Amino acid sequence: MRTRPVRADGLDLFVEAAGSPEHRKEVERYLESMFAAGSMRPEWCFVAEKEDRPLGRVAFWTLPGMEEPLAVVLLDVPWEDGDYVGVGTRLLGDVLNEARGLGAKEIEHVLDTPPMRPQFQHHPEKRVELLESLGFAFRRETARFEWRGGEPLAEPGGLSFRTLEEAGEDAFVDAMRRVSEGTLDREIREEREKLGPQRAAREFFEDARRVKHEPSWWRLAYSGREGDLVGLVMPAEPPAFLTVFYVGVVPEMRGRGYVDDLLAAGTATLLGARAEGEGEKPLRADTDVANAPMAAAFERAGWRRFAGRREYVVELASDPG
Ligand SMILES: CC(C)(COP(=O)(O)OP(=O)(O)OC[C@H]1O[C@@H](n2cnc3c(N)ncnc32)[C@H](O)[C@@H]1OP(=O)(O)O)[C@@H](O)C(=O)NCCC(=O)NCCS
Repeated sequence: MRTRPVRADGLDLFVEAAGSPEHRKEVERYLESMFAAGSMRPEWCFVAEKEDRPLGRVAFWTLPGMEEPLAVVLLDVPWEDGDYVGVGTRLLGDVLNEARGLGAKEIEHVLDTPPMRPQFQHHPEKRVELLESLGFAFRRETARFEWRGGEPLAEPGGLSFRTLEEAGEDAFVDAMRRVSEGTLDREIREEREKLGPQRAAREFFEDARRVKHEPSWWRLAYSGREGDLVGLVMPAEPPAFLTVFYVGVVPEMRGRGYVDDLLAAGTATLLGARAEGEGEKPLRADTDVANAPMAAAFERAGWRRFAGRREYVVELASDPG
């Protein structure tokens, strides 16, 4: 058995492993949109094969503009009737080495329940078993929310807004640092602890910047009377959906329902963008299951939980040993 990148002329082989024709269509569509956005590349799609027969496949994913992969997606090995452990260990082992060679420090893989397009992740227990045997560790569980239509809550009257362009980058990053204090989101908290609040905010901003958005979508909110900073909202448009990338309220303003105003403003921005664009992209957002105030705010604002996502991460030592 060997693992090899398929490159542009061999993508059929990669897609073929998706199973039913309907699944193949979904995978093709997903690859097209990811290639166009710069989140995936044909040479980042790998197959494991034996005597020219494909046994499994997996691909790298990253944020647009980054040279190193951040995650693996579209993982499939013979889950039902084959040596999924043997094939998966070899395939993932090889591509993790490849990721290390490309400069990746860690690689993530997410598992969505229930299985859904385009990954259709059936056999979750077997997937976890395989991931853990390769050194992946559970990091965070999120609830996935989707806008269910209708009118967004009324746009807030009591707040005034400044866009990223009006506020300036430094003020915006500083606001991101302030609203991230005391977050119940495990990933954001751990980044703050690891990098320090200022650097974590800057890196979060730089990551967000790689996701498509209009600068006018990102806004700081101030209280009407004194003009103190209340919080911020950052809508964005990844390839397959529209999202609230980040929303936050400064610690001294929490517990007054300001999140509802920010979410209403962000949702209205996304619906406006969707109305102007083609197609009917869904509005989706993830939040840590531990972030109960955030989840409750999504529900109040007309979003509904439609799935759960578990994130697994493997650290890649610089020396493969
Ligand atoms: C999540 C967040 C936006 C909620 O904003 P908010 O305007 O305070 O929300 P609410 O007013 O609805 O608060 C509801 C309750 O949760 C509490 N609460 C809010 N944030 C809290 C936090 N980080 N830690 C503990 N309790 C919190 C409030 O005090 C309030 O409690 P009460 O009902 O006893 O008064 C805010 O906590 C925040 O900015 N967190 C950091 C950034 C973040 O995690 N963003 C979401 C990531 S996607």
